[in-house]
Amino acid sequence: MPTALTRALSPLLGECELTHLQRTVIDIEKAQKQHKEYENALEKMGYTIRRVAETPHLPDGVFVEDAAVVFPEVGIITRPGAESRRTETESVGAVLSEYRDLQTITAPGMLDGGDVLTLGKEVFVGLSKRTNREAVQQFADILEPFGYTVTGVPVTKCLHLKTAIAVIDEDLLLINPEWIDESLFPGYRCEYVSENEPYGANVIRKKNMALCPKAFTNTAEWLHKKGYEVLAIDQSELAKAEAGLTCCSILIED
Ligand code: GLY
Repeated sequence: MPTALTRALSPLLGECELTHLQRTVIDIEKAQKQHKEYENALEKMGYTIRRVAETPHLPDGVFVEDAAVVFPEVGIITRPGAESRRTETESVGAVLSEYRDLQTITAPGMLDGGDVLTLGKEVFVGLSKRTNREAVQQFADILEPFGYTVTGVPVTKCLHLKTAIAVIDEDLLLINPEWIDESLFPGYRCEYVSENEPYGANVIRKKNMALCPKAFTNTAEWLHKKGYEVLAIDQSELAKAEAGLTCCSILIED
């Protein structure tokens, strides 16, 4: 049964890591409501929500995507790039071990799950402020025996690789061409986000449904025209923490 791992957001979310955004006040109560709306939408898409242990002392703990990456054959516990986020992985690993055998990224490797884009047996890993070459090599060592290829791709203009690119269909990617070079993904059709929705390339698509932030009306319209039922949710407070939709869950498909 498809499962989405999530975590309650910390009351300290306003003290989160920020890389490309200026800090603005986050309304915690509103953010909690938006997070619940996010979980409800994932349930509508067919996922069972499983919350990992709360970590109220960790401002970015709600962004569980960065703590682990799941493949059908193995789960990989990361070593997040931001020092303040390193201990988020323990509680995620405790739950994920019920679903997968686990491997772990070790120092000097560092990697955020938001930098990992999986396209079938091809895995692209963003080389960003949060993810380094040592971790990409460790990823390759873990995944190549299962038949995957692992390729590092530069990410300099946004936080994570998946800030700038989303898998819409087997061969269709939605990208922000200002932030990521489409020639890094040969063999895939790339369509561009609307210029005034630079963060629009972070949506979650499952079967005929697509989850999209309410603020990105052009992206929602584009998804609708592609034939998807669009679930539009307000993520304004979580966006202030430099988070996209994928950041708040780890999706386990079976
Ligand atoms: N605030 C999300 C992150 O920087 O990891």
